[in-house]
Amino acid sequence: MSGTSVRRPRVAVSRTALPGDSVSHLATRFDVTAWTAPQPPTPAELAGLVHGCQGLLVLGSDRVDAALLDAAGPDLRVVALASMGYDGVDVAAAVERGIVVTHTPNVLADTTADVAMALILMARRRLPASMDALRRGEWGAFRMDAFLGLDVHGATLGLIGYGQIARAVARRAAGFQMRVQHHHPVRREDDALSRWVPFDELLQTSDVVSVHTPLTQETKGLIGKAEIALMKPTATLVNTGRGGVVDEEALLAALRCGALHSAGLDVMTNEPRTDPSDPLLNEPHLVVLPHVGSATEATRAGMAALAARNIEAVLDGHPALTALPGTPSLPGR
Ligand code: DGY
Repeated sequence: MSGTSVRRPRVAVSRTALPGDSVSHLATRFDVTAWTAPQPPTPAELAGLVHGCQGLLVLGSDRVDAALLDAAGPDLRVVALASMGYDGVDVAAAVERGIVVTHTPNVLADTTADVAMALILMARRRLPASMDALRRGEWGAFRMDAFLGLDVHGATLGLIGYGQIARAVARRAAGFQMRVQHHHPVRREDDALSRWVPFDELLQTSDVVSVHTPLTQETKGLIGKAEIALMKPTATLVNTGRGGVVDEEALLAALRCGALHSAGLDVMTNEPRTDPSDPLLNEPHLVVLPHVGSATEATRAGMAALAARNIEAVLDGHPALTALPGTPSLPGR
């Protein structure tokens, strides 16, 4: 017998703490190096981790730029995101290098839509503010005029973007007898759940505006001062998409002067926000969550599993299951 052994492909994983068993599953097939420290790797640490690997599994919050792809070396064939959003990836740089990039559609829309509905209810009915008052001992007596919010049922919901998550929100809104309308670059007339309306009309006529666009050059700052000014003063703005789509300064200013009733954010620019005195975390008419839209055991495990299956497929020579829209499913220039 010769002592030669076939070297298994190498895969880097930017966090070991992933729900489910995807890291141990990958380790049955590949030589896996996972980042185990509690803090995320710095760009230099991630570059060190991925050097010489054929596969890389990352989170949506990791930056995958040309420098990282070059640090990986010429063998890198697939970058699998355990996220739907891919605004942290330089897609052009990856495609230019013949690297497949995948993400996780079809596994998180319902879970994220649940949180969008929760934000709508919490912000519009002022539920966190009433709970805070209760905890402070301020529930003196039942009063007809205390803790008043605005109705969610029967309100008009405007969805900005109409992909998987927005449609899942529309399905839920039907149960609340909401009138649902949306704005999306592709106009379809045959949607039973929601009707397409022009962007400005959506802002002017919706009681709740819920943002569901990816963050791109086109959508950066899409909801700013001028757009908020078009909204009803009784409206609620909710964002479960990406932080940069909403101008947070403009939002705070509108909430403070009563130009907007309320807002709910699961996503912010410059995440994570760790300063307790951050104005965004202390505005009474704003409900904020730490990017938990897809945070259930089952969904996060499903996202990690899909990312792992994409790595396995590509490294086994098969097309990726869920390559980014408009990008190749097989590696190679
Ligand atoms: C996504 O999938 O894009 C979520 O925001 C988690 O990263």
